[in-house]
Amino acid sequence: MAPPSMFAEVPQAPPVLVFKLTADFREDPDPRKVNLGVGAYRTDDSQPWVLPVVRKVEQKIANDSNLNHEYLPILGLSEFRTHASCLALGMTAQQSGRSGSLWPPKVQEPLDWMLSEVPVSFTSTNICLRIPKPALWKENAVLQIDVNGKLETLFSGFCWRAVLILGWVGGVQSLGGTGALRIGAEFLVRWYNGTNNKDTPIYVSSPTWENHNAVFTAAGFKDIRTYHYWDAAKRGLDLQGFLNDLENAPEFSIFVLHACAHNPTGTDPTPEQWKEIASVMKVTNCLSRASLNKYSVLTFNVFRSHTYLLENIAGFLFPFFDSAYQGFASGNLEKDAWAIRYFVSEGFELFCAQSFSKNFGLYNERVGNLTVVAKEPDSMQRVLSQMEKIVRITWSNPPAQGARIVATTLSNPELFKEWTGNVKTMADRILTMRSELRARLEALKTPGTWNHITEQIGMFSFTG
Ligand SMILES: Cc1ncc(COP(=O)(O)O)c(C=O)c1O
Repeated sequence: MAPPSMFAEVPQAPPVLVFKLTADFREDPDPRKVNLGVGAYRTDDSQPWVLPVVRKVEQKIANDSNLNHEYLPILGLSEFRTHASCLALGMTAQQSGRSGSLWPPKVQEPLDWMLSEVPVSFTSTNICLRIPKPALWKENAVLQIDVNGKLETLFSGFCWRAVLILGWVGGVQSLGGTGALRIGAEFLVRWYNGTNNKDTPIYVSSPTWENHNAVFTAAGFKDIRTYHYWDAAKRGLDLQGFLNDLENAPEFSIFVLHACAHNPTGTDPTPEQWKEIASVMKVTNCLSRASLNKYSVLTFNVFRSHTYLLENIAGFLFPFFDSAYQGFASGNLEKDAWAIRYFVSEGFELFCAQSFSKNFGLYNERVGNLTVVAKEPDSMQRVLSQMEKIVRITWSNPPAQGARIVATTLSNPELFKEWTGNVKTMADRILTMRSELRARLEALKTPGTWNHITEQIGMFSFTG
């Protein structure tokens, strides 16, 4: 008699509903069928859309005999990581006017007094400005750096606020946004706030994308909680509930925040509401120079003529942004990244999981990036070294094709422009579909109210 199968006792796992629905849709012969499954863009003919700019770049890559199939570094394609993080934080290839990597910028001599006295170091992805002694800090100082052939004033524009905190920005190429979330979660469970963080509360919105809970649980977190988000009665944001939960969360809890086009409600906080959220997540006291300690953050305030604030963090919740729809939500890359950039400008250390599945239509190429913003250059180096270890045991090193497509597009001003046009085509079509659906429902006098269809944004419409 054959021995019993080693797998005889394996229980049947339930299907992943959203993918099951898509499979059911494919098999259903009914011509009236409508696909409400996985969140992927479709054309008028219900077909996936290969962005024209992606087709073009694919050809370019195919014809480039310098490219090969060598392993990528564990942390991924350097140019991709740089441009992806720049995109989230407000620096674009277009703004830089360069076709290559934005960083390292060339420092011109002689420089402003500060840079000539302050150690500045660059790596392929990071800028580090470290001011060692408070004695060097002067009122109304302006830091300048050469980023695109001319001296830029670092602290004069929103796009440069990423480096206001004298911190580092680093990126880890990942398998889609999901991979970025997972690497971030694996890092946090090992290293955030000490070395054993299984008990650190993770807060996800109620409701949220169904994978958030699972990814953080799989990484080992035991205390996954929800924060108020959706107000069913008004079919909109429950801001007060959200703020209460932030206020009552244990210090250093981790909050997963949807950067834009909240999945599944399509309801985002307004900029004013984000400001309130940020102010509860990081409580700071202004300090005198004499009372600086290692948690002090130097923040230049561009709205106050380049004066700076010295602040001491009195309460902190860690923001882990999930940015799966930049550009895809409103058609505007800056608008959809507003919340992330605001938090960075407020001096937060944070993670941001970026997905290029939707805004590049590269669903099956699995392109993502985990942007890390840290306050201290040394920390960033160590964080990336630990992330490298985590990637090594997870997928060892990432695939090249999707990252090459994204990096080539973001680093070339013409391709970048074409891409923003393609993204806008998708976003505008979604907006049109929303208003037409609402108009049709209202014209048919369908019972209920339908304003939420146009008030919500992105691919999802939540009826509660
Ligand atoms: C909120 C959110 N995060 C992450 C993802 C995952 O993106 P990716 O397919 O790139 O892993 C999605 C995809 O639907 C999403 O909606």
